[in-house]
Amino acid sequence: MADDHLPIVEIPKNAGRTLHWRSEDDTAAFARALAASPALRDAFIALHGDLGAGKTTFVRHLLRALGIQGRIKSPTYAVVEPHEAPDGLAIFHFDFYRFNDPREWDDAGFRDIFAGPGLKLAEWPENAAGRTPTADLAIKIEAMTDDTRSVALLANTPRGSDLLARVGA
Ligand SMILES: Nc1ncnc2c1ncn2[C@@H]1O[C@H](COP(=O)(O)OP(=O)(O)O)[C@@H](O)[C@H]1O
Ligand SMILES: [Mg+2]
Repeated sequence: MADDHLPIVEIPKNAGRTLHWRSEDDTAAFARALAASPALRDAFIALHGDLGAGKTTFVRHLLRALGIQGRIKSPTYAVVEPHEAPDGLAIFHFDFYRFNDPREWDDAGFRDIFAGPGLKLAEWPENAAGRTPTADLAIKIEAMTDDTRSVALLANTPRGSDLLARVGA
């Protein structure tokens, strides 16, 4: 089974939450809460949702909250955009939208990145299903209106549960 086809039967009842972001301010506030969690440092967060749902926007708010300054490029063409927070935290922002060459997984060092320390964030994780480890936290963003988002959070690991508890979700 692909990692992001979550095995519903094995998920504890308290592992999932649904939030409502009324505007991008709520998205930013959630990102700040997550950024304040120590469990984030070596976490892998999978971001699900259609084009335009707000995955990249959420990542940008999270990177800002972690102290990343300057222009934040979207990794769509590069597949991964690495960042380093002022405190030394390595952050890898993946976008697997155009990922279709399995050889790239090893050749571009993605295997090493996922095996190493740092925060990994991935848009379109389903395109790398079976290669990535299980996401600690899966976030599924769905656009309701222009500005509002329905957000499903699913913790798959103790670290993910820790993150959920930390954001008060
Ligand atoms: N509450 C919200 N959270 C995130 N994005 C929002 C929100 N409200 C409006 N938006 C807008 O929706 C768009 C989302 O685009 P983007 O983040 O690139 O989506 P994705 O990466 O999922 O394809 C952006 O233009 C963003 O400003
Ligand atoms: Mg995007």
